[in-house]
Amino acid sequence: MEVLLSRDEIADAVGRIGQQISQDFTGESVVLIGVLKGACLFLADLARQIELDATFDFIAVRSYGTKKQTAGEVQLIKDVITPLRDMNVVLVEDILDTGLTLTFLRKHLLAHQPRAFKIAALLDKPSRRMVAVQADYVGFQIPDKFVVGYGLDYAERYRNLPDICVLQNLAE
Ligand code: IMP
Ligand code: MG
Repeated sequence: MEVLLSRDEIADAVGRIGQQISQDFTGESVVLIGVLKGACLFLADLARQIELDATFDFIAVRSYGTKKQTAGEVQLIKDVITPLRDMNVVLVEDILDTGLTLTFLRKHLLAHQPRAFKIAALLDKPSRRMVAVQADYVGFQIPDKFVVGYGLDYAERYRNLPDICVLQNLAE
């Protein structure tokens, strides 16, 4: 598979995002909320680059569609446990694609009335956006290619690849 982003490039970007978050919330605490399962590796590495009092939680959604594409319907399958009212929340996601997932999660989490709400997305495919949503912290903007590795899957496989690779010759 063709490597799009090497483990070293990923580590640099994660370090940079960790510094930004540490600066933006200096002297405060943050709750990192990882979107299962894709964001697990990113959250694990990002958390170690954040020099703040931090806690973790996880949320899971299911989106209907083909293996490669979100169809539009997003359903919550696991909610957070942490009370988020008046907390600084950073939602940690692997990739921002159509924007449907993060639009759903932003609305869901803002209903908990956090003090601050930020989105960290390792990857962003701006050309695919169907609804307007932006991440506050982005690792890389990438072209419209289907990628796997570093948490990202195709039919649950390849999440354990250390680099982010382009999966080719995929039928829809
Ligand atoms: P969105 O709702 O379309 O923004 O999609 C976000 C979700 O789609 C991500 O959390 C991924 O699970 C999945 N996704 C989108 N693009 C890719 C990709 O290139 N590789 C793997 N998963 C992807
Ligand atoms: Mg995912």
